Amino acid sequence: MARLERKIAVVSGAASGIGFATAQAFANEGARVYLLDRARDRLEAAVQALPGEGRQAVVMDVTDEAAWAALAARITHDHGRLDVLVNNAGFGDFAPIVETTLESWRSILAVNLDSVFLATKHMMPLLAISGSGSIINMSSIRALRGGVNMASYSAAKAGVRSLTQVTAVECAAQRNGVRANSVHPGHIATPLTAGFHEDPEMSAAIVRNIPAGRVGAPADIANAIVFLASDESAFMTGAQIVVDGGQTVK
Ligand SMILES: NC(=O)c1ccc[n+]([C@@H]2O[C@H](COP(=O)([O-])OP(=O)(O)OC[C@H]3O[C@@H](n4cnc5c(N)ncnc54)[C@H](O)[C@@H]3O)[C@@H](O)[C@H]2O)c1
Repeated sequence: MARLERKIAVVSGAASGIGFATAQAFANEGARVYLLDRARDRLEAAVQALPGEGRQAVVMDVTDEAAWAALAARITHDHGRLDVLVNNAGFGDFAPIVETTLESWRSILAVNLDSVFLATKHMMPLLAISGSGSIINMSSIRALRGGVNMASYSAAKAGVRSLTQVTAVECAAQRNGVRANSVHPGHIATPLTAGFHEDPEMSAAIVRNIPAGRVGAPADIANAIVFLASDESAFMTGAQIVVDGGQTVK
C-alpha cells in the first residue's frame, strides 16, 4: 500500500520548489492534495503535472484569514476531515537590519509566520476529526543559527519553530491525535535561491560550506515531509527535522 493512501493533504506554496516536490511526492504516495499558491498560472501548471486523482488547485494568499476559513469550509464539504497540513509558502528579504524597513519586516513575518498561525487555527478542527492529523511547518536552519542580513527571515522562521512546539504540546494535552513538527532545510536549489548561483564564485562558496558537497534538491525535503505526513512518524511531535547536508553541525 502507498504510504499516504487515503490521506487528505493541504500543501501551501505548491506551485514551485519544495512545495511542488512535496505535492508531487504526496500524489505518488496516494494522497489527495489541495495545492495552494497565490501564483495562479504556475499553480494550474503544477496541478496538471501531478499524477492521480483528487488534485485541487486553491489560488489564495496564505496571509488572508478569510481565505483559510473558506478553504476549511470547502474541505469540510468535500471530505469532512483533513489528515496533513504542510505550511510551506514563504520567502525572504535579505538586508542589514539598519536598511530593513518596517514594511518589509512585517511582510516577511506575515507570509512566513502569520500564515502558519492562520492555517493552524482554521484547519485544526478538521485535523482533529482525522484522529491522526499531521502538521508540518517549514522553518529553516536560519531558525537555529544567525545569518548575515537575514533578520526578518530568521526571526520569522524561529517563530515557526516555537509555534510548532506549542502546537505539539497543546494538541497532545487535548489528546486530539494531531502532531506538529518543523522542517529545517539548509540550502536547496529552487527559484528562491537561484539568484545566489548567478555568480559562480558565490555559488562555489555556498557548496564549500556544505559538508555533503552539494546543495539540496527539493526532493530531499519532500522525502522528509512524506515521512512526517505518514503514520511511520506517529510518535514524533514537536521535533525539528534538519535536512542540510551537515551544514549546522560542522
Ligand atoms: N530553498 C531553500 O534553500 C530554503 C531553505 C530553507 C527554507 N526554505 C523555505 O521553504 C519554503 C519553500 O521555499 P522554496 O525554496 O521552495 O521557494 P519557491 O519560491 O520556489 O516557492 C515558494 C512558493 O510560495 C508561494 N508563495 C509565496 N508567498 C505566498 C503567499 N503569500 N501566499 C501564497 N503563496 C505564496 C510562491 O508563489 C511560490 O510558488 C519557504 O518557506 C522557504 O522559506 C527554503
